[in-house]
Amino acid sequence: MPAPRRAKHLMTGSPITSDHIAHYEQHGYAIVESFCTTAELDGALADFDATIPGWVDLVKDPTGPKPDTWDRRFPGQRGMPHFPYKGDTLNNLTFHPALRAFATERAGGAAMFCEQSHLSYKIKGYSGDHDQAMHLDYGNHTIAYPPNVPRYWQTAFLYYFTDVTEDLAPTAVCSWEYYPERILWPAHYTRESRPSLYDNEVKVTCPAGSLLIYSMRTFHRGTAFKAMGGRLGMFVTYAPLEARWMGIVGWSQEAPRQEFRNWMERVSVAERTALGFPEPGNDYWTEETLDGVAARYPRMDMAPYRDGIER
Ligand SMILES: [Fe+2]
Repeated sequence: MPAPRRAKHLMTGSPITSDHIAHYEQHGYAIVESFCTTAELDGALADFDATIPGWVDLVKDPTGPKPDTWDRRFPGQRGMPHFPYKGDTLNNLTFHPALRAFATERAGGAAMFCEQSHLSYKIKGYSGDHDQAMHLDYGNHTIAYPPNVPRYWQTAFLYYFTDVTEDLAPTAVCSWEYYPERILWPAHYTRESRPSLYDNEVKVTCPAGSLLIYSMRTFHRGTAFKAMGGRLGMFVTYAPLEARWMGIVGWSQEAPRQEFRNWMERVSVAERTALGFPEPGNDYWTEETLDGVAARYPRMDMAPYRDGIER
């Protein structure tokens, strides 16, 4: 009889359990129901409303007035609100230690950086309300190819801040068991070209505050609304820091915003490093860069970076 599977480096107190890890390692995805605490969910919705006003109310009452972002792209990268957000909760959830730990463990302990964090909002009849084709996300998360080698594994997370039912555009995901081929190309199949991906899909229905975890090698798709209603969420993806060919955005694009400076100045060294910022001890740090970064971010504690340079 095989030895029971043991969780690897399971983080104490993490809502992501050994069962979730085992499921992920077998199927390429895991659903963590009620990942967020009540306070985190309340805070996430408050930050959501502050960042893109009107959508929280619209999802609560889809017959209510439509926000002015209803029919135009958000003025930011890729037409969507990106990290950092107004308030602290969505920013903290982006860098939740359980997400960082999960992604790091899947990549065999490699240092990771956050390469995606943006909000997702849809309502029946909105431009995002359509049945997507089955796809892998690596098309716009790397300019190379995601090999089946942990060192290069990116991990994607999708937070759901509203209840997701069968009628409310659940994400559909298909287990690794149904595409065992060595090379995952193409990264996109219509229902007609590969019906088995659709016949074996699982709809991710879950309560508000839940989390879907999947990989760049996991087929999935967005589905259309079947009833009046909406869905609010946030995508977060981590990638190995050494893989400069990965990433959906460049965070420098967000750096001029006050929210960005506030976040940079308040968070820990580990969180900054997880955004791709140079870590203490990196050759980057010199008297010049210490003074330059301190000038740009006057409230940042520079001591950990100063302590790391050789004198
Ligand atoms: Fe996708």
